[in-house]
Amino acid sequence: MTQNIGSDPDLAPPHASNLVESLRAFGYDTATALADLADNSLFHQASKLIVHFHWAGEGSAIAIADNGNGMDEVTLINAMRVGSRNPCETRDPNDFGRFGLGLKTASFSQCRRVTVFTKRKGGVQLVRCWDLDFISETNEWRLLRTPSPLAAKLADKLSDPKQGTVVVWEKIDRLTAGNDTENDTDEDAFLRHAELVSAHFAAVFHRMMTGRNAVGFFLNEKLISPWDPFLADEAATQRLPVEKLPYKGHIIEVAPFVLPHLSKLDAELHRRAAGLRGWNAHQGFYIYRNRRLLVAGDWLGLKGWRQEEHYKLARIRVDLPNALDHEWEIDVTKSRARPPEKLRRELVRIGECARSVAKRIYSHRGSKLVPAEGEERVFLWEQMVKHNQVFYRINRDHPLMKSVRGSCADLPKLSALLRLIEETIPVPLITITDREKPDLTIGPFETTKETEIFEVMRQVFTSLCSSGLSKSDALLRLSHFEPFPRFPQLLQAIKEREEL
Ligand SMILES: Nc1ncnc2c1ncn2[C@@H]1O[C@H](COP(=O)(O)OP(=O)(O)OP(=O)(O)O)[C@@H](O)[C@H]1O
Ligand SMILES: [Mg+2]
Repeated sequence: MTQNIGSDPDLAPPHASNLVESLRAFGYDTATALADLADNSLFHQASKLIVHFHWAGEGSAIAIADNGNGMDEVTLINAMRVGSRNPCETRDPNDFGRFGLGLKTASFSQCRRVTVFTKRKGGVQLVRCWDLDFISETNEWRLLRTPSPLAAKLADKLSDPKQGTVVVWEKIDRLTAGNDTENDTDEDAFLRHAELVSAHFAAVFHRMMTGRNAVGFFLNEKLISPWDPFLADEAATQRLPVEKLPYKGHIIEVAPFVLPHLSKLDAELHRRAAGLRGWNAHQGFYIYRNRRLLVAGDWLGLKGWRQEEHYKLARIRVDLPNALDHEWEIDVTKSRARPPEKLRRELVRIGECARSVAKRIYSHRGSKLVPAEGEERVFLWEQMVKHNQVFYRINRDHPLMKSVRGSCADLPKLSALLRLIEETIPVPLITITDREKPDLTIGPFETTKETEIFEVMRQVFTSLCSSGLSKSDALLRLSHFEPFPRFPQLLQAIKEREEL
């Protein structure tokens, strides 16, 4: 119970006509606003989503239609309310929503009249409309029930006969104020916006566009194809180890990718992979919430890193659950996220590794740094997660380990030694040093003489040969063992020495 209320609190509800104008300034653009509406459709089981740009000069309209579950009348009226839900509520883990605002704030940011048509399976179509001019005139939050003829026509054209929702924006003053139906330049600008929306959707929803339950996204009848920032289907794309970071009872999955060198991609693929903002601006972390992209490449202010040419091949996927919205400062527009302080160190560590591999690939034009298609990287140390606890184990299947174990006369002693190493690895000390003096931490063999690295590589190579592999297969396998792919010149030296 609130304390010290006093006897007669004054009632001061928001002034409707003023507030609606302020609600227009949440920082959306047309594409992010439409994506916020698409979130609602996706959570409500839509398998098809159509964005429609209708050109008519100042009388233009934009609509978005889905074949999802639709709403009954009570739900529709509540959905139209500004603040339809409390952001502190626990949401269904698949829900893209948080604030109870998106439908309204996204729409108001682009238009002065938004009409929602909705129908549940077996039900009738229901309609409600906010008209900002009407709210301004009456200074009341009164929902209209009658659509304009144009909105009704668009709903008729786009709505699924069985079920679904159509949202129509009219009086789209921010896009078409002063536009003339006869003016080709105005029309071109309007259609360019449509293309930007298509490209934005291709990125934001790319993971929903493929796979078994793929959703079809259309822009005016044209299917939008996904934009995969990681070129995951390309053999030359490097996948660094996936890490699962526990945070407040949830797991954040981080999957770093290093994209192929320019010389490994055909021109069209290279151009497309550049994305809307170009290669440089698309490097860094990609933050997904429920597999929906929020941030498409940013170093998140970590260590003051800036987007620089030689790191442009590093793209790191981060998957968040919606239960951590508050910690990651997810905003209403769903287009920004900020990592919590406690995770920044981990992200710096992962980012540093991806950046260093990206830099090597960028500067080793054409070098074979990449394992063959379908082959997994092999690491000596493995990160394990169990009951939300992270610990590290030495990979017993590493060939050098196998070979030593095979020839060891006292196996129990060796096993005891390995366990001891694993249990006493000074993680806190390493972490503290890394945090306090990040520039002092070096990567594997970073300051080692090449002859020494070569000797270690040769030992692993010999172990692989003695496990029964041919020399050329052993060399191929060797190129999968971290950190050897970082030293293509030494792999080449072994190849030459063995006359392969
Ligand atoms: N296309 C749709 N199909 C079914 N229900 C919808 C649709 N669009 C909106 N709704 C309903 O309207 C409600 C309000 O949507 P709105 O986008 O304003 O808020 P939210 O999704 O709850 O949170 P956020 O502000 O984070 O988007 C939703 O919770 C949902 O129940
Ligand atoms: Mg929403």
